Amino acid sequence: MTTEISTDTDSPAHAPVVVIGLGAMGRALAGKLLGAGHPTTVWNRSPDKARPLAERGARPADSIEGALQAAPLVITCLTSTDVVADLLDQVTTSLSGRTLINLSSGTSAAAGRLAGWADRHDGAFLDGAILASPGEIGEPDATIVYSGPESLLRPHAATLHRLAGTLTHLGDDHRLAALVEAAGLGLMWGALDGFLYGTALITAAGSRAETFAPLAAAELRIIAGWLEGYANQVDAADYPSLDGTLDVHRAAMANLLAESEALGLDPALPRLIKEVADRAAAAGHGEHGFAVQVDQFRAARALNPPPAP
Ligand SMILES: NC(=O)c1ccc[n+]([C@@H]2O[C@H](COP(=O)([O-])OP(=O)(O)OC[C@H]3O[C@@H](n4cnc5c(N)ncnc54)[C@H](OP(=O)(O)O)[C@@H]3O)[C@@H](O)[C@H]2O)c1
Repeated sequence: MTTEISTDTDSPAHAPVVVIGLGAMGRALAGKLLGAGHPTTVWNRSPDKARPLAERGARPADSIEGALQAAPLVITCLTSTDVVADLLDQVTTSLSGRTLINLSSGTSAAAGRLAGWADRHDGAFLDGAILASPGEIGEPDATIVYSGPESLLRPHAATLHRLAGTLTHLGDDHRLAALVEAAGLGLMWGALDGFLYGTALITAAGSRAETFAPLAAAELRIIAGWLEGYANQVDAADYPSLDGTLDVHRAAMANLLAESEALGLDPALPRLIKEVADRAAAAGHGEHGFAVQVDQFRAARALNPPPAP
C-alpha cells in the first residue's frame, strides 16, 4: 500500500540539509533547496562543481565526513547506489541523530548495503527513486518515491516537497524504491522497444514512422486504462478473460512474427512475446485473460512464488 505524504506535518519549513553529489541531478536538488531558503551544505568529489552553488549561498563541506555532520538530513545523489555505498564504506563518522536519504539509482541489494552502513553508524536510512529529470525537480507533477520506515520520512516532508510535488511512501521495506524504479524503467523500455519495432515493420514496407506515432500514442492511452484491472487480477490470482482470451492474442502474435520474418526483420522480440504466451497456453491458460502470463515471468526465475490468494 502506498501513501502520499502531505506537507501538513510538523516538519520545519526551512530545515538545514546536506546534498552529496553535484552531477546534473544533485545540482538540481541542491539548487532547489537553496532557492527555497534551506541552509544547504554540499559536497562533490570534484569540488569545482560546488562553486556556482556556493556563489548562491550554499556551504561547501571540506570533506565527506564534514558533510555528514552538517545537518540532520543528508541526501546522496551519485552515479549509483553502489558508488554511494563504496564511498561511505570508507567513512567512520557517526550518523547518530541523522537521516541518510539516497536518491541515486541502484539495485535493491545496494540499498540494503546502505541501510546496513547507516545502521552500523547509528543513523537512519531511507532509499528513494526520482521519477523525473533534473529540469523537472521542484515541479508539482514531479514524483519521488521513498522506501523505509514512514516515521523517518514525515519529519522531512516539508524539505522533500521542495524537490517534487508528489512524495510517495512505498512501504517500510527499503528495497521497494529501487524495485519500483527498475520496474518503471522496464515498462518504459518495453513500450519504447514495441514502438521502435512497429516503426521498423512499417518503414520496411516503405511507410514513414510518423504514420505510426499518433496511432501508437492512442494505443498506449488505451493500454494505460487496462493496468489497474490487470493489477487486481494479479493480486487476486484470478484471470478471467474480460475481452480477448490469451489464445486470441496468440493468433495475432503469430501474425506479427510472420510479418517480421517476411520483411526480414530481427524476429527476436515477437518470438519472445509469443514464446511466453505459448508457455502459458501449454500450462492450460489459453482461455484465460492476458494477465495470466505473469506466472510465466515468475516461473522463469523461480525466485518469487505467487502469493497465496
Ligand atoms: N539525470 C537524470 O535525468 C536522472 C533522472 C532520474 C534519476 N537520476 C539518477 O540520479 C543519479 C545521479 O544522476 P546525474 O544525472 O546527476 O549523474 P552525473 O551527472 O553523471 O553525476 C554523477 C555524480 O556522481 C559522482 N560520482 C561518481 N563516481 C563517484 C565516486 N566514485 N565517488 C564520489 N562521487 C562520485 C560525480 O562526481 P564528479 O562530479 O566528481 O564526477 C557526480 O557528482 C543517478 O543515479 C541517476 O540514475 C538521474
